[in-house]
Amino acid sequence: MEFVSGYPDYMLESVDQVEKTRDRRLSERFELMSLEKREDILCKYHPDYKESGKRALRLGPNEGDLVPHEVADLIEAHPLIDPAEIDLIHLDFDLDILIIGGGGAGMTAALWAHYSGVKPENTLIVQKLRMGDSNSVMSQGGVQVAGKPYDSPVIHYLDALGGGHFTNNPELVRTLVLDAPTILRWHEELGVEYDREPNGNMITLPCGGSSKERLHSARDYTGMEIVRNIKDEVINEELPFIEFTSAVELIMDDSGRVAGAVLYNMETQQYYVARAKATILATGGFGRLHIQGFQTTNHYGATGDGVVLAYRVGARLRDMDSVQYHPTGAAYPEQIVGLLVTEKVRNLGAQPVNRYGEQFVNPLEPRDVEASAIIRECYEKGGGIETPTGMRGVWLDTPMIEIIKGEGTIEKSLPAMFRQNRRFGIDMRKSPILVFPTLHFQNGGVEMINDRTETTVKGLFAAGEVTGGTHGKNRLMGNSILDYSVYGKRAGIHAAEYAKKTSVSRLTLNHVKRYEAMLRDAQVETDMRSPILLPEYRGERALSHSLDIV
Ligand code: FUM
Repeated sequence: MEFVSGYPDYMLESVDQVEKTRDRRLSERFELMSLEKREDILCKYHPDYKESGKRALRLGPNEGDLVPHEVADLIEAHPLIDPAEIDLIHLDFDLDILIIGGGGAGMTAALWAHYSGVKPENTLIVQKLRMGDSNSVMSQGGVQVAGKPYDSPVIHYLDALGGGHFTNNPELVRTLVLDAPTILRWHEELGVEYDREPNGNMITLPCGGSSKERLHSARDYTGMEIVRNIKDEVINEELPFIEFTSAVELIMDDSGRVAGAVLYNMETQQYYVARAKATILATGGFGRLHIQGFQTTNHYGATGDGVVLAYRVGARLRDMDSVQYHPTGAAYPEQIVGLLVTEKVRNLGAQPVNRYGEQFVNPLEPRDVEASAIIRECYEKGGGIETPTGMRGVWLDTPMIEIIKGEGTIEKSLPAMFRQNRRFGIDMRKSPILVFPTLHFQNGGVEMINDRTETTVKGLFAAGEVTGGTHGKNRLMGNSILDYSVYGKRAGIHAAEYAKKTSVSRLTLNHVKRYEAMLRDAQVETDMRSPILLPEYRGERALSHSLDIV
């Protein structure tokens, strides 16, 4: 395969410097930071610590809590629908369980509700785009499971709590790590092909912030491999779903429980009323809000809808001030800026180095620390490389992988990354790639109050990225697939159990009217409506991508 260098000449000069320092870097080990140094770099450079990036909510259960402006704008926006125009008497769907979101969490929940005895015709998955289109399918690196003799769920538990700065809900972390091995087995029963040694042993890799090698991957398209199998199972079991349809408001009954949702079909522009004994929120995160102007790894549908819907029925949120910026988003070429460069690249040996070829951080710091070190290098220390469009980035020295792990490792273990770069003439086996932090994950969300996935409002269950509590203020790599699998499964089981002993009384949208009154009382002036369903890249509301870092 012929590669024409994809870099302009001035970048190639820096690539030469990187090559020259490689031997030295191979023989040196860049130490992990002390806790004090980590705290210091986070305070100074992590976007979450920038006060001007947030404001206090003016209404609702989290009134007074700081959240990013972009999130506050959505929460303090007017509803999309006028309750007076929705006919709650004539039902389009009458269900035991309504599942909002058809990504990893939603499909897993639907399957486990079905395995728990709920008939397919009594469930419905509503999916904004195509079934499976979600951040779940785009996840690359893998899933953390403590399964090797040198490891244990206890160590996994401590790693996850430490990574989250001990702000996580310990009960949720405990269940996450204890359920992990059964999830891995279930995936394999469905047909997921995790990487194995020739002797059949599972391959495990290290990951940032974790003390043991416990990352299980399927090359560098783990999410696609898992979602492909889960989706096949949903289709084989004939579980009903509708695509291009979104929930635009939750419905309550007059006993104060969530009892379904008003749905909007984006193709036909029709509204539907779905009554349900239990409702599972599995809408994913808010990466497409481009918090503080950051690029994003996220799926097109990641517009934070679930948080908005849940807040309007009075559900409490938590850790909404905390956003995960993946340390390594692509920074060059322009066509792929912001896309994920999986942490697995660093786990296999690639080092972050500056324009002079100097390493400035250990590749396996927790994500928030690693991202902060890259921002500091680019915006304070002058070690960043400016791209032709004015973006800055640092090198991820990928050829180190071939040196450390052997020739052919990149094509074998990172085939998607290899192809992504090859399309632009960059041979990552021989040249480094340019990276900069990119918005990756919503650390907080709708508060999950126990490991039965209940929220603070009866009848409303939640799973996956839309929830808050499991990861505290910083999720570790590989705990997201685990999260949506463990809690998707539990949401299905517990919503099924709840639905069996629940009946729904008269439906109401009075909470929507009350929310409008709260907006008035709080003197919120806005012409914005939410949920926004899809991001807006045109006109006045175009999402800005000018980084506001300095
Ligand atoms: O880097 C990655 O592959 C991302 C994984 C994750 O967010 O868990």
